Amino acid sequence: MQAWAIANQKGGVGKTTTTLCLARGLASAGHRVLLIDLDPHASLTRAFGVPAMPPPAGTHDLFGSDGPSLSTLARSTDVDGLKLVAAQPALATLERRGATQPGLGLALGRALHFVQSTYDYALLDCPPTLGLLMVNALAAADRLVVPTQTDPLALHGLADMLRTAEMVERSRRRPMPRYVLPTLFDRRTRTGVQSLDLLHDRYEDRVWPGAVPMDTRLRDAHGLTSAEMPTGRGADAYRRALKWLLAQDGSAQQQAA
Ligand SMILES: Nc1ncnc2c1ncn2[C@@H]1O[C@H](COP(=O)(O)OP(=O)(O)O)[C@@H](O)[C@H]1O
Ligand SMILES: [Mg+2]
Repeated sequence: MQAWAIANQKGGVGKTTTTLCLARGLASAGHRVLLIDLDPHASLTRAFGVPAMPPPAGTHDLFGSDGPSLSTLARSTDVDGLKLVAAQPALATLERRGATQPGLGLALGRALHFVQSTYDYALLDCPPTLGLLMVNALAAADRLVVPTQTDPLALHGLADMLRTAEMVERSRRRPMPRYVLPTLFDRRTRTGVQSLDLLHDRYEDRVWPGAVPMDTRLRDAHGLTSAEMPTGRGADAYRRALKWLLAQDGSAQQQAA
């Protein structure tokens, strides 16, 4: 199994949309995919129609002592090959406990270890804050995908995110390849085009050469969780992005063929 963290310290850059679209692409190629919602706002969980109340069993339970395993927490979805571990609002309180409970930063990695042969991919939808949950995702991930809105402010967020990833990589002593996906691109605006150029100048071959365009069909995440494959310019762009991401890793590319 390969774990991909989809992260950016900025909100509203397309993390959840990216997680869903990449997961759908992997599942439609026949892979077994586990989605883990690490965001207390639970957008991914809501997209699958899981109600917030009463809080569903899910990600938070991984952090208790002797809690249920990931296999127990993974729920089926309408999409073949795609399972979801739901997020609960209580995840927000974990950050405080993190300071007092040593080892909590590795809880997710440990849980994933037990489902190594059950899934081909685990996609980790991160919250927009650098706290215990994101640290868990970065510690567990084999690669990092950073969706980045193509506007000048978002570029600062990207630099912060990549610095954080570098720090985590140093402490865990295992490489974590990092890839940038330009999202929410509007080619009619000058700032959009300039930001995209800047991304390519600054990060070169770490940036997917395309960009996910603004597409109203991606605006409602519910539309991305039904049995039928999403269609439209945005969904097509994500299919190309996935192909590129897989091509960055020879073995993963063969698996997807
Ligand atoms: N390419 C796109 N075109 C139009 N709307 C988009 C696109 N990508 C994301 N959105 C919408 O923008 C908002 C933020 O996206 P989301 O994936 O939730 O970001 P994040 O998880 O980073 O907060 C959501 O309402 C989402 O549906
Ligand atoms: Mg999100």
